[in-house]
Amino acid sequence: MKKRKFLKGMGAATALLFTNPFETLGQAVMMPGTTKKTALVLGGRGFIGPSIVQSLLANGYEVTLLNRNKTNTHLFNNLPLIVCDREKEDKAGLKSIDSKYGKTYWDVVVDTWQKSPKAVSDFLDEFKDQIGHYHYISTVSVYDKWNKKFIVETEPLNPLPNFPKTIKEEYRYAIRKTLAEEAIRERIANYTIYRSHGMRDFRSSNPKKLIDEPFWPIRFYRGGEILLPNVKNHHMQMTDVKSMVNFIIHCSNHKVFGEYNIACRPTLFKDYVSSLIHATKKPEKLHWIDGDFLIENGLIPYKVVPFWRTQPQGSYYFNVQKAIEAGFEHRPLVDMITDQINGYRYRHPNDDVRFGKQADGTMKCYSPDQEKDIIKKWKLKNGID
Ligand SMILES: NC(=O)c1ccc[n+]([C@@H]2O[C@H](COP(=O)([O-])OP(=O)(O)OC[C@H]3O[C@@H](n4cnc5c(N)ncnc54)[C@H](OP(=O)(O)O)[C@@H]3O)[C@@H](O)[C@H]2O)c1
Repeated sequence: MKKRKFLKGMGAATALLFTNPFETLGQAVMMPGTTKKTALVLGGRGFIGPSIVQSLLANGYEVTLLNRNKTNTHLFNNLPLIVCDREKEDKAGLKSIDSKYGKTYWDVVVDTWQKSPKAVSDFLDEFKDQIGHYHYISTVSVYDKWNKKFIVETEPLNPLPNFPKTIKEEYRYAIRKTLAEEAIRERIANYTIYRSHGMRDFRSSNPKKLIDEPFWPIRFYRGGEILLPNVKNHHMQMTDVKSMVNFIIHCSNHKVFGEYNIACRPTLFKDYVSSLIHATKKPEKLHWIDGDFLIENGLIPYKVVPFWRTQPQGSYYFNVQKAIEAGFEHRPLVDMITDQINGYRYRHPNDDVRFGKQADGTMKCYSPDQEKDIIKKWKLKNGID
């Protein structure tokens, strides 16, 4: 069977990203008589930052970046850059910023920070009076308990240690994010916090780590006989970065403040599989195999088989109704998956990423041979031809 032509039907913006995803998009054309709004993006050149910057530009913002000028320095070279190290103690990095920025007002500030929460409080202590609307990319990891369904924004957050006095004090990710949120709430009211989960985009979340190439989209793109854990009715959630970014713009335009869970609606695994099929090509055959049998054969939920979680069952169930009512729209999963596959094909035109045991002995999901072998054993066990 012939492969679908993935570019067919893609939106203009996605097509542009496909041909040249790491270049700056042009500035949007402004109507005569309108003044551009200003945006400061703290970070902006990693995984989700570029999508935020591109969307702000496309929506007519004048964008300035703030980072150390170390990561992906080829990106957005035509934009003003404030070179600043937020991890210096005693606000030394912030204090070294050119004095002209001491009076600059930004309509919008987007902060993607995930390291020391002290860097978030330091920034706000210095600049809070110069910000129209502060947006912070947080995570669902801020919730204390995950073993219930329909987690809403008012659920208790992680119990917290004292706020760190220095940048170098170390905490685990969930605590850093929760402390950062607390720091924001204590300092300003004009904020929106996006508690997201499992972000997916054209870009890979960590290009250096093979596992972050999207396993299921690639597996369906390759076609053939496909092994699946028989958890058709498990719920799962993930976040399309483009949809989240559109919501950031929406919140800026409509002054939507507060905390929001951001992800697709809880989706059945079998519906995700339908979207995978729709975005790629019809597989030769799907083999829905019992979880116990997969575990016996070394396919461990989540660690080895992405999106299959046993505890809590499924891959999350966060209530996103508050965001939907405020204007959040998650694109169809098939669009998001198509973007992921296009990104993969751009990075690996020879489709040469190999899953399974790696040269250093680590496992990245499972190999085609393992998959074939388990399917064969499963058929034998169940008398399937
Ligand atoms: N992946 C997921 O599924 C997921 C889920 C939920 C939430 N999140 C959150 O999403 C966010 C993703 O962020 P991202 O990495 O994609 O953001 P990003 O803004 O695209 O990239 C990180 C930026 O931070 C800058 N930076 C790093 N250290 C710095 C320092 N000391 N001082 C100043 N700037 C510094 C980097 O530039 P330089 O190195 O040049 O300084 C880079 O531009 C994180 O907050 C994460 O917690 C992710």
